[in-house]
Amino acid sequence: MARLEKGIILSHRQVAPEIYSLEFAAPALAREASPGQFLQVRTSPTYDPLLRRPISLFDAEAERGVVTLLYRVVGRGTSLLTELPVDGLVDVMGPLGRGFTLPERPEKVLLVGGGMGLAPLLFLGRMLKQGGSQVKILGGAADAQRLWAGNRFERLGISFSPVTVDGSAGRQGLVAELLADWPELDQVDRIYCCGPEAMMAAVSKIAREHNIWGELSLEEHMACGVGACLGCARLLQPGDTGYVKICKDGPVFNMSEVQLFKLD
Ligand SMILES: Cc1cc2nc3c(=O)[nH]c(=O)nc-3n(C[C@H](O)[C@H](O)[C@H](O)COP(=O)(O)OP(=O)(O)OC[C@H]3O[C@@H](n4cnc5c(N)ncnc54)[C@H](O)[C@@H]3O)c2cc1C
Ligand code: FES
Repeated sequence: MARLEKGIILSHRQVAPEIYSLEFAAPALAREASPGQFLQVRTSPTYDPLLRRPISLFDAEAERGVVTLLYRVVGRGTSLLTELPVDGLVDVMGPLGRGFTLPERPEKVLLVGGGMGLAPLLFLGRMLKQGGSQVKILGGAADAQRLWAGNRFERLGISFSPVTVDGSAGRQGLVAELLADWPELDQVDRIYCCGPEAMMAAVSKIAREHNIWGELSLEEHMACGVGACLGCARLLQPGDTGYVKICKDGPVFNMSEVQLFKLD
């Protein structure tokens, strides 16, 4: 059930160029959230900006009662968010949206994340490991510094294979290229993916060719975040007659439901 909550900020720091980690106490939220869901975050203590900003749950630790967000500064809202002090409050609404579908029994799972698309995959990795699945992640970014989250996956026992555009960590290139050459691809049961749409289009194509079940997480501009304003409505397939609301019907969809027609 979505709730309004004010969490005490436990830590808030820059972890990479433009990227911040915000950790706050929110026991009920941490207990109820599932991977792939997001929060609508008030980015300043005032009503300016009026609209909350959607941020994925990077991690939610039910035992500690702690939620962590990982966000990149791209505009006014996220820039103001960086100013929230430790010991102050962060005002959030959530958990919102339909998250990832967890397997009913342990499976071989590959996570594929590009840029800030790594953000919703850590909590997912944690839950998959708890369920006994074998989990690996392929993570892509512009450079090594922006792959800061890699250590967090390794700490959960999830092997992290980096790929960077400038070659400063792992293989040089794009994460979908690493996936295409992945030697164990035919043993993979599931792929979960989040990142830029061009990357998710390429990953979906590979999953389809290898007959692998997959889910991806879509992003749209959002206003209300709860299905009331139609601000996030979009078509999943060209020729669809009905629009979906990314905030309520998603943000996670099965790869077979989505054709990233802008780029595919
Ligand atoms: C479900 C969901 C989960 C998200 N999770 C995360 C996360 O975990 N970490 C993170 O860093 N970001 C995440 N985002 C993106 C984040 O919401 C936006 O970056 C943020 O709202 C920008 O606010 P702003 O006021 O700083 O920028 P604005 O001033 O509103 O915009 C600055 C620039 O960013 C673009 N932009 C703003 N929002 C979006 C969006 N939703 N999609 C594409 N472009 C956008 C604008 O067009 C503009 O060019 C998520 C978005 C969604 C929909
Ligand atoms: S953001 Fe309002 S309907 Fe999705």
